[in-house]
Amino acid sequence: MATTLVIFGASGDLTSRKLVPALYQLFRKKRLPEKTQVVGFSRTKFSDEDWQHELAESTAKFVGDDFDAELWRQFASMIHYQPGDIKEPEDFEALHRRLHELEESSDVTRVYYLSTAPRFYKPAIERIGACGLADEVNGPRRIVIEKPFGRDAESAHDLNEAVHGVFKERQVYRIDHYLGKETVQNMLVLRFANTIFEPVWNRNYIDHVQITVAEEVTVGRRGEFYDQTGVLRDMFQNHLLQLLMTTAMEAPVRFEAEAVRDEKVKVLRAISPLLPEAVASDTLRGQYRGYLDTPGVAEGSQTATFAAVKLAVDNWRWQGVPFYLRSGKAMSCRTTQIVIQFRNPPTMVFSNGSVDTCQANRLVIQIQPAEGIQLHFQTKVPDQGMRLRLTDLDFDFNREFSGVMPEAYERLLLDAFQGDASLFARSDEVELAWGIIDPILSAWESTSDPPLDMYEPELWGPERAVEWMHAQGRQWFDTCPVLS
Ligand code: BG6
Repeated sequence: MATTLVIFGASGDLTSRKLVPALYQLFRKKRLPEKTQVVGFSRTKFSDEDWQHELAESTAKFVGDDFDAELWRQFASMIHYQPGDIKEPEDFEALHRRLHELEESSDVTRVYYLSTAPRFYKPAIERIGACGLADEVNGPRRIVIEKPFGRDAESAHDLNEAVHGVFKERQVYRIDHYLGKETVQNMLVLRFANTIFEPVWNRNYIDHVQITVAEEVTVGRRGEFYDQTGVLRDMFQNHLLQLLMTTAMEAPVRFEAEAVRDEKVKVLRAISPLLPEAVASDTLRGQYRGYLDTPGVAEGSQTATFAAVKLAVDNWRWQGVPFYLRSGKAMSCRTTQIVIQFRNPPTMVFSNGSVDTCQANRLVIQIQPAEGIQLHFQTKVPDQGMRLRLTDLDFDFNREFSGVMPEAYERLLLDAFQGDASLFARSDEVELAWGIIDPILSAWESTSDPPLDMYEPELWGPERAVEWMHAQGRQWFDTCPVLS
């Protein structure tokens, strides 16, 4: 069956930076379904050739050495452009006609990709519905929706209603690109294709879990967007909670969309949203120095660019095990990691009895950029009596499978073409995730507790974050990964 991908918001940054490079890579690896066509739709008045020309330059830049001019020429012949405005019904009619022309009435899987500004999601969906583009007349119709999916639980619910007015849930693919990362999928493999971790993956052995998504970059040119968004909406509601779900979920009966998503949703249901008093004690917020000088940022803005949040997953497996989530811009280095900090041995027989949690076993799952896994354990230092030192077993994806780490969007696009929604968020999942974030956002808006701490760029966030962990007898694992 033929496949057509229609990208709304085609002239935007995401299309040139991520989507088209991912499609080109799939083409290069011969993974695109037969008879694939890509149709861009946005207001810029491009011809097919103009758009192909622009994309050639950006793709060459983003895929680096994998760019091959001859291969690009073959790939570019699949790329078309239809100028149009989401607000204009007749532009959708024209798009409909163009699709018919290109598809020559063969059976076709058609995937609509919403890569526009979020305020256009609802009108675009309604127009798609109104002109019959969602009707599954000669093959499946699917819609991929980029993040952010709403600004809070209520707007996410409204958007879900609009989506369900036109598409059935099985046709909807809500993207969180973190789920397309190989190392995030590998978390499921690590847990559920091995037997040695599962027996200790619970409150009996684990002291706490730390999930860090640190970015070295600042807000850069996205000042206006970011200032209205902040770190909780930008990173926590989606990426960090996805990592938490992957770490905490039970084994699904099989690796299938509904089974996987049912288990993830159970984790969210087990997290009680924080009450205002708990927001004051269990969250931290910060803003890097220099943020206020960013173009587009409001004067005196109180938007947080750093946050740390302590959540409890109240179920049998995780009762009493805190999950510390932290993310920030302008941090020491770029690293996304999940740290499983195990408990201390009950007594320390090899020294004068002092037991330090930070020295207990630790499993570090490096999601990026130094993709890998390290298991830390105590070892006897040779020839020094019974002196011990923490050492590690180190698995490095790059060393083991050199050069095959694909971009997240390759996997996600392919899954959307093939109708596998396992790595996409379901409607209840996004609403429940907002239900965890909303109370923090509203407490932050209405009180000054916790205060907004300033932090110096290139550190690990505000000093208070360090003290906060120490006060709980714990310590952040602040290590920049070593790239091999
Ligand atoms: C996006 C956020 O969803 O994820 C950005 O909007 C952030 O602010 C980005 O920089 C991080 O993605 P990655 O894949 O680079 O970790």
